[in-house]
Amino acid sequence: MIVAHTITELREAIRTSSGTAKLALVPTMGALHEGHLRLVNVAAKATGNVVMSAFVNPIQFRPGEDLDSYPSSPERDHELAAASGVNILFTPSTDEMYRNGSEIRVVPGRLAELWEGAIRPGHFAGVLTVVAKLLNLVRPDVVVFGQKDIQQVVLVKRMIAELEFGTTLLTVPTVRETDGLALSSRNIKLTSAARISARVLSASLRTAQEMFQAGTRDAAAIKSAVAMILESEPGVEPDYIAVTDPENMEPVISVTKGSVVAIAARVGATRLIDNVILGEVQD
Ligand code: PAJ
Repeated sequence: MIVAHTITELREAIRTSSGTAKLALVPTMGALHEGHLRLVNVAAKATGNVVMSAFVNPIQFRPGEDLDSYPSSPERDHELAAASGVNILFTPSTDEMYRNGSEIRVVPGRLAELWEGAIRPGHFAGVLTVVAKLLNLVRPDVVVFGQKDIQQVVLVKRMIAELEFGTTLLTVPTVRETDGLALSSRNIKLTSAARISARVLSASLRTAQEMFQAGTRDAAAIKSAVAMILESEPGVEPDYIAVTDPENMEPVISVTKGSVVAIAARVGATRLIDNVILGEVQD
């Protein structure tokens, strides 16, 4: 595995690495876990050459969010990336990544004002800007994202299509702990009590899936069942429960196969998100 700390090193590594093989990009903010590594597996199956970026992108955090306390484990990331089949690991400093300034943003429309965007204004402009930059730097054939951040997937897909990036986005189902908790770099911030309470997120989504399988189509009924489960857990405060269309994340009245139930909740001091696609069986 080649490690590139600078944009010049990255370009050089891409130029000299396995000639005609297709290139995949896996963007991350480091603090790697099994979820990230699953993306690498999918990337490696799709192409012969996997670039992973590990960069905590300051412009997608708002003042008061957890930028300063965002988990970081660079040595471990290096080992895990190498062992999982990453060919080039790109770990720029903030100064390097924004060496030409940070004046420009990719500004998304209404889709970025819903749900996560309503609670974190400007967040998706920061995400799309850094993803656009990474796509320009790497020019991958394939770029791989996790379903866990489903609104991010929908927005990046739209950006790739509308701005004609000419790359294929692959989405990987959410990797979970055995008790259902979606893996997240932020999980290590949970106290042991909060870690137990956090199970309620995936449990509530399992109920939504079961209701759908049993024939419920009324979005409001699903939403209130999810709310009741989340609210039953002390220390868990939901931010939103979204029962939506997968294409534009707009709320629906009646669900169909493929509709998305997405939730965010504060569990103790940590904010977690999760979602389920109705009618889709996952392990
Ligand atoms: P980060 O939170 O590090 O996530 C990197 C990628 O891993 C995202 O595509 C995310 O959806 C995926 N991922 C995280 N947890 C997962 C899980 N349990 N199962 C499957 N995939 C999972 O998302 C970001 O970083 C940033 O916003 C980024 C796109 C890198 C831009 O800065």
